[in-house]
Amino acid sequence: MSNSFTIAVDGPAAAGKGTISKAVAAHYGFGHLDTGLLYRAVGAKMMEGVAPVTAAQTLTPEDLAREDLRGPEVAQAASKVAVISEVRAALVDFQRAFARRAGGAVLDGRDIGTVICPYAQVKLFVTASAEVRARRRFLELTAAGKVITLAEVLADVKARDDRDMNRAEAPLKPADDAVLIDTSELSIEEALAKALAVIESRMETAG
Ligand code: CDP
Ligand code: CDP
Repeated sequence: MSNSFTIAVDGPAAAGKGTISKAVAAHYGFGHLDTGLLYRAVGAKMMEGVAPVTAAQTLTPEDLAREDLRGPEVAQAASKVAVISEVRAALVDFQRAFARRAGGAVLDGRDIGTVICPYAQVKLFVTASAEVRARRRFLELTAAGKVITLAEVLADVKARDDRDMNRAEAPLKPADDAVLIDTSELSIEEALAKALAVIESRMETAG
């Protein structure tokens, strides 16, 4: 295996990208970057009145460590700033440097396999039906104490999917060489086993 090995994990909201990426990174001792956090941090700053491009150009580790980035309001703001090409451009170098880190990296997001790391040795596109994804996110949010209905979460997920898939720059779509994993009917363990099987076979090919 070469010194840097990159695994790109893309897909729509609450498909299970982060869960798979975190477990895969722990399995191989790779670094993991949840790139959605970058857009969420920019979205949160926009909600506070900072211009999105300025926010993206001046993002700090503290901005990414904020505890208020997980909610649906910030998620909506994230998908709004994510259509701005200068915002995306300001975040590219950081993501690419992370992807090249020695020892291997897993990045999850929307455009990792298509734009950020087209050379990635492994590309997974993790998906599930909007209803299943909304239910998962609803359970997560209510467990964290958020007062919200399933219908509101479904509307949030669908609005973001729509915006993410139809934007001009770096739209959400599987890379031509991505392997699709539909987790609608899979447990976390089953989804992870599928991902690991794909990665193992690619690692053998990559030598
Ligand atoms: O990163 P992404 O938004 O794609 O989704 P996630 O945060 O990894 O997963 C959303 C929720 O679905 C989490 O609470 C997971 O535990 C749950 N889940 C899953 O990820 N995969 C399954 N096969 C079943 C549930
Ligand atoms: O966790 P979840 O899948 O719900 O969302 P996220 O991964 O935290 O991403 C929040 C938003 O950031 C998405 O809806 C996208 O609009 C944007 N995003 C993006 O455009 N490109 C990425 N590589 C990651 C996120």
